[in-house]
Amino acid sequence: KKVVLAYSGGLDTSVILKWLQDTYRCEVVTFTADLGQGEELEPARKKAEMLGIKEIFIEDLREEFTRDFVFPMFRANALYEGQYLLGTSIARPLIAKRQIEIAKLTGADAVAHGATGKGNDQVRFEIGYYALNPEIKVIAPWREWDLTSRTKLIEYAEKHQIPVAKDKRGEAPFSVDANLLHSSSEGKVLEDPWQEPDEMVYQRTISPEAAPDKPTYIEIGFLKGDAISIDGERLSPATLLTKLNALGKANGIGRLDLVENRFVGMKSRGVYETPGGTILHAAHRGIESITLDRGAAHLKDEIMPRYAELIYNGFWFAPEREMLQALIDKSQEHVEGTVRLKLYKGNATVVGRKSAKSLYSLQHVTFEDDAGAYDQRDAQGFIKLNALRLRLQKYGRK
Ligand code: ARG
Ligand code: SIN
Repeated sequence: KKVVLAYSGGLDTSVILKWLQDTYRCEVVTFTADLGQGEELEPARKKAEMLGIKEIFIEDLREEFTRDFVFPMFRANALYEGQYLLGTSIARPLIAKRQIEIAKLTGADAVAHGATGKGNDQVRFEIGYYALNPEIKVIAPWREWDLTSRTKLIEYAEKHQIPVAKDKRGEAPFSVDANLLHSSSEGKVLEDPWQEPDEMVYQRTISPEAAPDKPTYIEIGFLKGDAISIDGERLSPATLLTKLNALGKANGIGRLDLVENRFVGMKSRGVYETPGGTILHAAHRGIESITLDRGAAHLKDEIMPRYAELIYNGFWFAPEREMLQALIDKSQEHVEGTVRLKLYKGNATVVGRKSAKSLYSLQHVTFEDDAGAYDQRDAQGFIKLNALRLRLQKYGRK
């Protein structure tokens, strides 16, 4: 009867909009979010109006996205398969959540998205929908329709008076998803994992080769595991990330060329740019290095791959993700202080850290006279007992 569509205003979701009206004879509500993708949203409103939409939701979610999704994830130092900072994965639960809220607000009984039947995004959207409203109907046009090529899509658009931008007429060179945390590019020219990505694939970083020969130094302040300032200036989460993105971009930081395992089973090759996130990740590890106890640090490192996989696979709203989050958040109680970083030709290197809550004890670690803080003779028994079972193995089993 009524469906809330995650609508970007682009060609694909415009065709979906029209297709929903025609195929399901239902009213369509559009939802367009500013997640920091760097696109004007007003054209999406115009286009939706033109396509006869009466209920149009356009929302700036950049602060909520950064504060309630990106930052909690960064407290965990989450990386999927050791490298991917999960820029697309972490945006999907927020979009799903707002779609379900808007469905309630407008009395819609269904939601729709523009992800294909081959990828992770369909899983993330839909698991999010069902977790928040078990009764919701889900429509995934890409899994249903017969518009199986770009040509058919454009034919459909032209038949239904959907404007097609000149540069969209040809085959798109690759598929892009962007938000305040990252840009990802996949498909087409990137499908051969042996072929180095062309420079034109990169959208939000200059190349390390083109970056300045002079390093940039910055200081990031942390409180309870979250970044709160740059060079002493307090900034809101989204403002801070925006600023780190600019610093990262200018120094060629945050590029990644990766072959990853999708949840649905196939391997895919993606090119990611996460300039601010890459700096933040390094800085957060820097502040944790002096403020976290070893046991706490190692435990959160052990659960991190599991936590990252939950986010990658779309289980943000699952109880086990929330349980791990509680553990991670607890660990961040004393993660505060300042980290100094050197940004230089593709690298974000921690070169200084300080904290009122620091566990670093110069008195204990110094190579100079420690004035009796540490008794080196204690180490002898410590090592001997730790070596005991290894010695027993050498003596041989009786
Ligand atoms: N492979 C990445 C992920 O699964 C990026 C997906 C990009 N999505 C897109 N619609 N282009 O998180
Ligand atoms: C898609 O298939 O819609 C994009 C790629 C992905 O979701 O993994």
